Amino acid sequence: MDTLNLETALKNASGLIDQRLGEVLVVPDAPEGRVIEAMKYTLMGGGKRLRAFLCIQTAKLFNVQEANYARVATAIECAHSYSLVHDDLPAMDDDDMRRGRPSLHKAFDEATAILAGDALLTLAFEIMADEKTHPRKAVRLDLISGFSKALGARGMVGGQMFDLMSPELELDAGALTRLQKMKTGALIEFSVDAGCIMGQVPDATRSVLTAYAHDIGLAFQIADDLLDVEACQDDIGKTPGKDEASGKVTFVSLLGLNRAKDQARMLVEQAVGHLEIFGSEADALREAAHYVIIRGH
Ligand code: IPE
Ligand code: IPE
Ligand code: MG
Ligand code: MG
Ligand code: MG
Repeated sequence: MDTLNLETALKNASGLIDQRLGEVLVVPDAPEGRVIEAMKYTLMGGGKRLRAFLCIQTAKLFNVQEANYARVATAIECAHSYSLVHDDLPAMDDDDMRRGRPSLHKAFDEATAILAGDALLTLAFEIMADEKTHPRKAVRLDLISGFSKALGARGMVGGQMFDLMSPELELDAGALTRLQKMKTGALIEFSVDAGCIMGQVPDATRSVLTAYAHDIGLAFQIADDLLDVEACQDDIGKTPGKDEASGKVTFVSLLGLNRAKDQARMLVEQAVGHLEIFGSEADALREAAHYVIIRGH
């Protein structure tokens, strides 16, 4: 699979998610309809759907049914969108642009953005818990348990707290790795692990894929930090230069551009190395690893 095909494959993943979201996000003609409009604005506003793609491609390795993985991937993208809505709020990164459009709190208002974020997160769990997501209750419970850990105070939310505190802390590479693993890596790891959970794969196989996801998760955030420095707003669809302006510690601020790039490349090679036990059926995951650092947005 070359880069072009990967982009097509990402679009296909998007199509699958958009279809599911269209079914769930019906706006009632009532005052609370506003929060659902806001959720729609965020969810239908683009995004690479990389986490959905990783979940789908891992699930496909183990012959999971589309009806199941499409729902899990949708839940993951709902939770990811919530994280971005809250990340952009004035109390957090205070970014007025997201995915090339006004951030949710700009398009609507702050209170609606907070509520839409809350509702996206709860919707994610509602989708995950539904019996249509997987016929086996034990599988659904494993999914919900892994999802909660990835998103909570020891995962993404903890990483966001750590990130906000980073300007006041003197972080070394080890501490920054921990921050990025929590903030971004945890949900990316879960996206891959969710495919393994649905596929009910042996622990040994699962840990190989976790190692892969760990490496691309870190590489992904380093690439995001590089884009913040090197890209323009039209490409990334969000305000560049935010990290430096707010004094955030990133691999770029710590190592400089060249060493941050080397580190990201090394992580991608390492990630692909973990996939050696799989044949060509894992090519989409290999391509995704490369894409993580060559992407332009
Ligand atoms: C942005 O994630 C936030 C980070 C974790 C760096 P993405 O770059 O995946 O955002 P979208 O979904 O494609 O807009
Ligand atoms: C956000 O990281 C990670 C999340 C968990 C949302 P950033 O703050 O670097 O993400 P962008 O650059 O705003 O997308
Ligand atoms: Mg942030
Ligand atoms: Mg941000
Ligand atoms: Mg960023």
